[in-house]
Amino acid sequence: MNTTENNTSTAQVHYFLVPSTMSSPMEHQEEIISTTTVQAATNEGFDYSKLIDQFGSEPVQQDLIERFEKLTGKKAHPFLKRGIFFSHRDLHKLLDHYENGKMFYLYTGRGPSSDSMHLGHLVPFMFTKYLQDAFQVPLVIQLTDDEKHLMQELDFQQVRNMMIENVKDIIACGFDMRKTFIFSNFDYMGYLYKTVVQIEKCVTTSQVKGVFGFNDSDNIGKMSFPAIQAAPSFYTSFPHIFSVQQDAFQNLESTMKENNGKNMDSIMCLIPCAIDQDPYFRLTRDVAPKLGFPKPVLVHGKFLPSLQGAKTKMASSDKNSAIFLTDSNAVIASKVAGSFSGGGASKELHEKFGANLKVDVPFKLLEFFLEDDQQLEQVREEYSKGIMLTSQIKKLAFEVVSKLVKEHQERRARITEEELKEFMSVRKLDF
Ligand code: TRP
Repeated sequence: MNTTENNTSTAQVHYFLVPSTMSSPMEHQEEIISTTTVQAATNEGFDYSKLIDQFGSEPVQQDLIERFEKLTGKKAHPFLKRGIFFSHRDLHKLLDHYENGKMFYLYTGRGPSSDSMHLGHLVPFMFTKYLQDAFQVPLVIQLTDDEKHLMQELDFQQVRNMMIENVKDIIACGFDMRKTFIFSNFDYMGYLYKTVVQIEKCVTTSQVKGVFGFNDSDNIGKMSFPAIQAAPSFYTSFPHIFSVQQDAFQNLESTMKENNGKNMDSIMCLIPCAIDQDPYFRLTRDVAPKLGFPKPVLVHGKFLPSLQGAKTKMASSDKNSAIFLTDSNAVIASKVAGSFSGGGASKELHEKFGANLKVDVPFKLLEFFLEDDQQLEQVREEYSKGIMLTSQIKKLAFEVVSKLVKEHQERRARITEEELKEFMSVRKLDF
């Protein structure tokens, strides 16, 4: 067991209140990361290494990246090399498991709260696609239409429409249809329910309140939703994929007792997600051994900054903060041109002092989406010295982002109704 990991019952507060030491007392503001609010203290964004300490996760380091490359025979994704997927729980254990020829699957998800996804939403899915290609494993994707109905003022039809539109954006990321199952909670709950109830039974109301900050006037659906997001971490939720009986965990429980709490032969689960989803999965990891499952393994991503600066993340609720996957070239051009710059206030100052890359949004866009490592290093060097101008980096960021969005739109336009149905149908996968 990982002793540094904060237990949900002892360190609840850290999930949603992270006081900052980064800012000066004058501008002191709290850094908040919760499943509902994400706010850094300054335009430099989050102090992610401090987050690792406070969340009790582990940093993604060079040795881990090398293991990825060795085991998959493929180059590590730029998101790993550039520290965008920066933190993890038990990834080494998962790679040991894989190295020993044992099975794992990927699980990620999306809460459909807007018709169009934006670039920030794409980040975990792009990374998940790399993982699926590299390891050739099954992937399950949960669409939490129930969550968005419970937490926001959205009716059934609205969330249904958004869910379908979002599924198209997800498919357009290029997932392998033979290995990918995408499901809406409303549609799939019958299959999930036994696992959900097993989890509900292990979690108390005060634990949920502590972890998510709910209070007595929140609806009871919110209180039990964490069990629904947790359930796909356990393979019994997918009997058609893993050919298991729905009551398999009962057998597992006895097997586990025999093995002194270790169930190494079991199917493991790897969850790529943005760091704000960690509370759900810390809770899941607490519950796992009680039900005889291996703890789900996590790899955490950073937030894509808002166009107005890294103090907040790109968010659908603020249309100007985000580049949407439906935006036209002209809209993208004006959004990138207006994005928060770390360049000098005048050409003279810029040439003298260079740019502040820590706050520069165009540079951050390139860090996420410019594939060429060498070119990125050249930009880093020249822009920070003031050799490259703000107008030039903005032009480059526009080119990179608009190409990505255009290609996405083309792939999305080609998706047929049949494909959509197939991805979402309850079926056997090929692996
Ligand atoms: N709660 C997530 C959201 O609002 C959706 C989600 C469900 C998810 N299951 C997940 C995200 C697993 C990452 C991993 O977007």
